[in-house]
Amino acid sequence: KTIDTLGDLRGTRVIVRADLNAPLDGTTITDDGRIRAALPTITQLADAGARVVVISHLGRPKGAPEEKYSLKPVVARMSELLGADVAFATDTVGASAQETVAALEDGQVAILENLRFNAGETAKDEAERTAFAKELAALGDAFVSDGFGVVHRKQASVYELAQLLPAAAGQLVRSEVEALRKVVENPERPFVVILGGAKVSDKLGVIENLLTKADRIIIGGGMAYTFMKAKGWEVGISLLQADQVDTVKGYMEQAEKNGVEIILPVDTVVAREFKADAEATIVPSDEIPADQEGLDIGPKSRELFAEKIADAKTVFWNGPMGVFEFEAFAAGTKAVAEALAEAPGYTVIGGGDSAAAVRTLGFDESKFSHISTGGGASLELIEGKDLPGITILEEDAS
Ligand code: 3PG
Repeated sequence: KTIDTLGDLRGTRVIVRADLNAPLDGTTITDDGRIRAALPTITQLADAGARVVVISHLGRPKGAPEEKYSLKPVVARMSELLGADVAFATDTVGASAQETVAALEDGQVAILENLRFNAGETAKDEAERTAFAKELAALGDAFVSDGFGVVHRKQASVYELAQLLPAAAGQLVRSEVEALRKVVENPERPFVVILGGAKVSDKLGVIENLLTKADRIIIGGGMAYTFMKAKGWEVGISLLQADQVDTVKGYMEQAEKNGVEIILPVDTVVAREFKADAEATIVPSDEIPADQEGLDIGPKSRELFAEKIADAKTVFWNGPMGVFEFEAFAAGTKAVAEALAEAPGYTVIGGGDSAAAVRTLGFDESKFSHISTGGGASLELIEGKDLPGITILEEDAS
């Protein structure tokens, strides 16, 4: 259901579940991508004359207030971006929230304090979650689910609340689901997938699902060393998940049977220490010295990966190719981002670190077809899983 199905919203209180979980350094927001992504729906509702009550989590507080997880810095940034004052309630369902919502005028926006300051939000017990969702529901007349980054969580504000008020999907949730489903359900070929990031164990479901769908799977980043080990190469002191080597061997055999090409880095930037100014050298990937670790893909791999991406009609990328936070080890991630930016096909960047990398490395976001705001949520969609925050909206629609 779209927001339009909620009818005339003038004067009604609309609760918007957003994902304003922006990375903070103290109280400074280091990447405001998620806040900007929440704007289209909030603006649409405010323009329609609704009284917009935005709710979100930030970080993982344990069911009680903690100053470092306050949404206050987000409120300031949201006010700047909207060019209008955003009201702030210092609690989520208490006196401050009730007064703040009651004082809203048509077209005004308020943000309530971090949902996870309340144990009911993430409670395992459904009754506890429902009780908290009821307190939230009392603050609104309708509900818009737009926190894509959290739709894979069965939490009070995502799942139970959607059942208590007339509910619809916001613009972000709709565009994310559309973009990610297009990739797995109906990719134009060649369909190339690039996976990186530290741990192969985070991507097992994704790899399994893509082994029957992708034409090529390019592997970089920390997880590549487990693949290299599975090929029988020595990886020195590189990141390695020894308990996954057999699983990965199985994937490589499966890929061969399915005619899926798996592409590993042919050269690797290595160093003795994990630090920004470590002395780096480039070695063939099957000759990593015993006392060194791989921190990025090498120049030949950058070229090879770019070549494999250039003719793709669909590309999905998740996870950096190296330690891009250190300038000396950012070239691999930059090269892949560049190859995607130039690729004429449909290019999707799946959340988390790769989306942050694209922004912090200064890429023009409009060069990519879609940059997801979801980390875990985008991966679970690519795995082909049903996500509670989506199914509950679809059930509601039927
Ligand atoms: C994310 O950062 O992926 C989302 O905000 C979800 O956060 P969570 O993993 O703490 O539920």
